[in-house]
Amino acid sequence: MCAKKVTKPPHEVPTTGHEWDGIQEYDNPMPRWWVWIFYATIIWGIGYTVAYPAWPWLNGVTQGVLGYNAREAVAADIAQMDATNAAVKTQLVSVDLNAIGEDEALASYASRAGAAVFKTTCAQCHGAGAAGVQSLGYPNLLDDDWLWGGSMEEIHQTVAHGIRSTTDAESRYSEMPKFGTDGLLEKAQIAEVVEYVLQISGQEHDAALASAGGTVYADNCSACHGAAGEGDRSQGAPKLTDAVWLYGNSREAINDSVSKARFGVMPEWAGRLTEDQIRAVSFYVHSLGGGE
Ligand code: HEC
Ligand code: HEC
Repeated sequence: MCAKKVTKPPHEVPTTGHEWDGIQEYDNPMPRWWVWIFYATIIWGIGYTVAYPAWPWLNGVTQGVLGYNAREAVAADIAQMDATNAAVKTQLVSVDLNAIGEDEALASYASRAGAAVFKTTCAQCHGAGAAGVQSLGYPNLLDDDWLWGGSMEEIHQTVAHGIRSTTDAESRYSEMPKFGTDGLLEKAQIAEVVEYVLQISGQEHDAALASAGGTVYADNCSACHGAAGEGDRSQGAPKLTDAVWLYGNSREAINDSVSKARFGVMPEWAGRLTEDQIRAVSFYVHSLGGGE
């Protein structure tokens, strides 16, 4: 047992004079060590604001006697990175799109820079892993199922000018008619063609309706989706015979697609991203697995 270290018996410590229901408050001084540390932090704090930029002042803030500025340090780092990458960026925007992959150093820069661009500008819609968001119309960019084409030129065109963007005259454009909303087909005809789509995509369907739907399809859909549902990249019309769907493969989802039509929009990136960033991210997407 350690000896009790009581310097004054409790009753000799003065009180603050306050009393609540017979309870009094001792007026014990703060421990010395605590008080000194407290003073030290105040001195440190004042010293810090003298040494570094701190107080709002007439033309901004006091600059601090050490002359260090975190913003300038970052700006200098960025400028240094830009200077280091200037040559490779110039090369990236000047070579033929298909030649990017042939130069190892260039390809390595493009795929790393492209991955960074993808994470900041594309992942919101296409997903961090680029697998897209099924049923919301954000396509998977990992597979070789392309709406508009998977060559470097085609991907670059899609990324630079967007899809159905009203603010870019060169944007990719096509519009599926709203067969239900605009009364282009009867409800019964839509039900038939939906069964036909279910049939050609290898799903459970009503054979009688599907057979009637084949005629509706040939008359109304084949011009865009192809005679056998193979799709048409020149119009961004999806293939209807595979298991890849933008908006879902259920009877309801397909019925919605046919009745109301979809209108997937991607903004153009020219003007928001620099050409070297667009090329880098196109190269990155091309290298994800489905590139042609
Ligand atoms: C606001 C959401 C959004 C963002 C952000 C976005 N996209 Fe898209 N993207 C779409 C939609 C929607 C489509 C499908 C349009 C359609 O239905 O034809 C698409 C289609 C594409 C396609 C065509 C795929 C194919 O099968 O032909 C590519 C390539 C693509 N995006 C790449 C990118 C890249 C690279 C970025 C980042 C620079 C990006 N997207 C950012 C929404 C987006
Ligand atoms: C003018 C061209 C055009 C015609 C005609 C057309 N489509 Fe489409 N269709 C498209 C385009 C383009 C898309 C993709 C829309 C988007 O991405 O926003 C699409 C999307 C679809 C989808 C959604 C596919 C998915 O992956 O989710 C279905 C289903 C579909 N069409 C069925 C039909 C049927 C059935 C008909 C005939 C009754 C038809 N389309 C007629 C152009 C057309």
